[in-house]
Amino acid sequence: MTLKSVVPSKRKKPIDSDQIPYSTISRLTQYLRVVEKLDELGVSNISSAELSEETKINSFLVRKDLSYFGEFGTRGVGYEIPVLRDELKSILGLNRKHKTIVVGAGNLGRALIHYRGFLDKGFEIEAVFDSDPEKIGNKVEEFTIESVFNLEEFLKTTPDISIGIIAVPVASAQFIANLLVANNIRGILNFAPVALEVPPDVVYSSVDLTTHLEIISFYITHPTSYKMGYAE
Ligand code: NAI
Repeated sequence: MTLKSVVPSKRKKPIDSDQIPYSTISRLTQYLRVVEKLDELGVSNISSAELSEETKINSFLVRKDLSYFGEFGTRGVGYEIPVLRDELKSILGLNRKHKTIVVGAGNLGRALIHYRGFLDKGFEIEAVFDSDPEKIGNKVEEFTIESVFNLEEFLKTTPDISIGIIAVPVASAQFIANLLVANNIRGILNFAPVALEVPPDVVYSSVDLTTHLEIISFYITHPTSYKMGYAE
């Protein structure tokens, strides 16, 4: 018997992603981390006040965020941890595996591949590509770095790759994004510090650690009571 059949979904509302703020989605992942940790510790219930305390997210926001998806808590009792965990995973599309590829096997690409945490969360790296003849054929973990010239063929012949991670220099990033998009990749995580153009049906996210350092720099330079990372 699967956990799903033990814990039926209480969620009634269909999800309309256009109506849900991006900030809510980013907080859902924080709720999920806390709930998974408490589940491992054998905790069975959590109130929105406790979830607020654990995540440092205002309890009004916690309730508002979860209310977008219907009612799966019980007044006075809070949320059953396994129910909340399963609902959050289902909402975030994490109750299935996401096959992922990495393009660019330099310092960053290799670090991402060495990090096993993505695997635990259901993001399976399927292949790694680079353009440098010195790197092609070398191993990173269990992956043999493949030539980027084989990328298109790989995508045409390998079904269900849903996410492409771009870890190439700025000069190559748009070219790689175009290649991914042309071959039906619908999710792109870009590390190159450049805004890429992708069609509206492609889900695109860019990560730039420098931006976070610059924000820290701002608040160090102009001290404030604002606490970074503490949602309001
Ligand atoms: P790196 O120079 O060590 O690695 C880049 C790799 O991309 C090299 O192996 C190179 O051969 C490969 N490459 C170049 N053109 C390619 C193409 N057309 N197709 C396939 N592979 C290609 O650089 P590093 O440090 O790994 O950084 C990679 C990218 O990530 C850069 O754009 C860098 O600015 C960015 N970066 C972003 C960070 C962030 O916080 N978002 C942090 C660190 C790096």
